[in-house]
Amino acid sequence: MRHRVDAGMFQQTAHSPSYFELSRRMGDHGGQLIDFCIPCNPYFPTPDMFDFLARNLESVLKFYPSDADTISGQLARVLGLNPATIAMSNGSTELITWMDHLWVRDSIAIPIPTFGRWTDQPMETGKRVDMFPLQEDSGFALDIDAYIRFIRARGSRTAVLCNPNNPDGGYLPRREILRFMDALSDLDLVVIDESFIDFVEAERNPSVAADAAIRPNVVVLKSLGKNFGLHGIRFGYLVANPGLAGKMRRTLPKWNLNSLAESVVFMLAQHGEEYGESLRLLARDRYNMGMQLAQLPELTVFASQANFLLVKLAPGIDGTELRDHLISRHQVFIRECGNKLGMSNQFLRLVVRPEADVARLIDGIREFVQPRWEQESSAQVRPLVVRRIS
Ligand SMILES: Cc1ncc(COP(=O)(O)O)c(C=O)c1O
Repeated sequence: MRHRVDAGMFQQTAHSPSYFELSRRMGDHGGQLIDFCIPCNPYFPTPDMFDFLARNLESVLKFYPSDADTISGQLARVLGLNPATIAMSNGSTELITWMDHLWVRDSIAIPIPTFGRWTDQPMETGKRVDMFPLQEDSGFALDIDAYIRFIRARGSRTAVLCNPNNPDGGYLPRREILRFMDALSDLDLVVIDESFIDFVEAERNPSVAADAAIRPNVVVLKSLGKNFGLHGIRFGYLVANPGLAGKMRRTLPKWNLNSLAESVVFMLAQHGEEYGESLRLLARDRYNMGMQLAQLPELTVFASQANFLLVKLAPGIDGTELRDHLISRHQVFIRECGNKLGMSNQFLRLVVRPEADVARLIDGIREFVQPRWEQESSAQVRPLVVRRIS
């Protein structure tokens, strides 16, 4: 079945259209949309947790939430953090905005490709953004020493590193991040964006949050929407020494956290086991989905420790046309990366999803790419999976 897709919708911003916008435009068929675009944990919250939230919806929507200190204090208890070292916000993007206003003075370094707000926010406020290009032929892996040399050569005063990175899911071991933080202890600020770190299975305790709390110039950023599967709530937090975290808490707008965020934060303590299980299921799906995609000769799949996989299409296959084909014929929504700095529309970011959804994605990709691929080249070498983390 074919639905009309308004291509202009994808050109309006650096980000993808929301699920709601897309569903509205697709009318009755929006409800069947499978979202491979926005990286969200599909196994959490559990159906029981959603039932609980639904039963309490009326009071959640009718009453004011508690103040941010009460909500972030509970989050700190659940996560085993010192409340003085955290500041909680309405999505981690809110913290990126405020960090830029408060602490980025004139320049900021960031590897690209990456999450768009890390380049757009400081550019919007007139800062110099020093972009360190990650190389496709090394699987977009970040060479820490080369990045440090780049920061020194440019004289950047703030440095950001996303671990794992978006959109490739590349991950650096904790000891490398510590080395990075130590080497840059004289900068105004070092930000380690750990928005996807809960999905890492390469090592047991990958986060450097506790290390940030005892350093003068390091902030670790966390987005709760992705790992708890609740983007709509808009919640995230940072971890830093009490001076930096306190400054951020005092800067954030009063009552910036909503009652739904409060309800979820107070639910979390009883659901640690389900959360752990959701991460195990996701790691299993990531492996299976990567293997299945890698069997398509038209795709190169990059190894990822996040809840998405970056893939590259073979020459001659247009990512924008594939995206439109998947939405209009299969109600499958993917992220084509043509509007990301350091990428092109040959790259797609595909969110890790359960097996049945992946089958629909693969059917749709096959239907689109095979006739083109056969025409384009019979002599192409089969692409390999690169930078695999065993
Ligand atoms: C690396 C990274 N950091 C931060 C964010 C912002 O997340 P949110 O504002 O939803 O918490 C994103 C969103 O995709 C991201 O990819």
